Amino acid sequence: MTFLGIDIGTSGVKALLIDDNGRAIGEASAPAVEPVRPQPGWSEQNPADWWTATLDAVDKLQQSHGKALAAVKGIGLSGHMHGATLLGDNDDVLRPCILWNDGRSAAECGEMEQALPSLRKIAGNIAMPGFTAPKIAWVRKHEPDIYARIRKVLLPKAYVRLLLTGEHVEDMSDASGTLWLDVAKRDWSDALLGVTGLTRDHMPRLVEGSAVSAQLKPEFVSRWGMSGPVVVAGGAGDNAAAACGIGAIRPGEGFVSLGTSGVLFVSNETFSPNTEGAVHAFCHAIPDTWHQMGVILSATDSLNWLSRITGKKQAELSGEAEAQFIGPGEAIFLPYLSGERTPHNNAGARGSFTGLSQSTDTAQLAQAVMEGVSFAMRDCQRVLADAGTSINRLLAVGGGSKSNLWLNMLATNLDMEIALPEDGDFGGALGAARLGLCAATGAKAAEVMTMPPVRTTIAPDTKLSAAYSDQYARYRALYPAIEEARQ
Ligand code: XUL
Repeated sequence: MTFLGIDIGTSGVKALLIDDNGRAIGEASAPAVEPVRPQPGWSEQNPADWWTATLDAVDKLQQSHGKALAAVKGIGLSGHMHGATLLGDNDDVLRPCILWNDGRSAAECGEMEQALPSLRKIAGNIAMPGFTAPKIAWVRKHEPDIYARIRKVLLPKAYVRLLLTGEHVEDMSDASGTLWLDVAKRDWSDALLGVTGLTRDHMPRLVEGSAVSAQLKPEFVSRWGMSGPVVVAGGAGDNAAAACGIGAIRPGEGFVSLGTSGVLFVSNETFSPNTEGAVHAFCHAIPDTWHQMGVILSATDSLNWLSRITGKKQAELSGEAEAQFIGPGEAIFLPYLSGERTPHNNAGARGSFTGLSQSTDTAQLAQAVMEGVSFAMRDCQRVLADAGTSINRLLAVGGGSKSNLWLNMLATNLDMEIALPEDGDFGGALGAARLGLCAATGAKAAEVMTMPPVRTTIAPDTKLSAAYSDQYARYRALYPAIEEARQ
């Protein structure tokens, strides 16, 4: 028996096969078409592109690991969160998906909170433009014809599930990011749905991430040489999936993710909202478990931006920064290129560099970008601590964790050891595959979601702690000053 994890990311789809001991046996990936930005602060992607990339990735896996793929009994899905995939009659896609890093619906967020004063209490979260419901409020106001045709609203991985199984189903962790879920009760809230004029009929059925959501359609069972039945687990939003992949399911266990977005994630025994400081309080992907996160919108996406405008690859930039690093530089970067969620909840915030001189070169800019992102993660740690949460174990995941320098900056700024797992890149896909295993075999999540082998542990560089604390204080002072000047 084998199990397949499919992680639908903003920049591509990863497919990973594991055996019944949870060991990775093969992987493949396919790039997705980059999101388009029709206006500053907007971000959209065509759902058909996720589907093409999903088929590509699994087909590639069939070419390289055909026998192991044929033995799949359970599939788990992980996906980028919050995206509003609007379906009409016959499940036709009504418009491009408005993504998690789209900030167009700031005005609607305020209006929603006014319309339902208990919104924060029920949802456990602030209405932020990244979440799904405010995007629908925007569509209702600006694209009424499309709004009138909405029959279902799905998150990105639920759309891929629909094509794989024919069913509308979502798991609790991803559903938490819609702002339609009563996160404490793990159920849709009629009051929250009512704020955007929707009802339960517009929502997919809810299941726990480790439970069976539906069966893989016979056409895919035969396309990939499997013998049915093959179950598809509820799966998880990409962050909860990554947590399952690195074994962060007990209180205080967490991870720091340097992906397109940046996330500081910690598991909680109980529902622990803290709307001050824009902390996200969501259901975890396994029953009776919750988690908190601080989310920043541009982590590797900040380096990606620098790479686009300098014409140098991200690895080249971080390599140049590492080669000449001696300590915190003069330049300071605020990473608010797509606005910011934690801790500012400000879709209109914008990035900036300060402290530039005639001698500032691209390596120094790259260092400032990596430092700015590290300071933003330090902000997240601060507001999680304000909520009374302490993190007792932290692993690093995501593309940015390939840079030693970046991990050192993070460990020093968070003042914590950070462990780097061997398969750092496959957090989401591994977690999804593990959820597929649980759904197919009934195995207990606590036994399956173990910590992967650690490649290395990065300790804070105490020689740099004081200098970074000073630099962080300067970083924090910049946001209010720049915001005041911007308005
Ligand atoms: C979490 C969030 C991002 C996306 C990116 O709230 O918006 O981490 O899930 O993939």
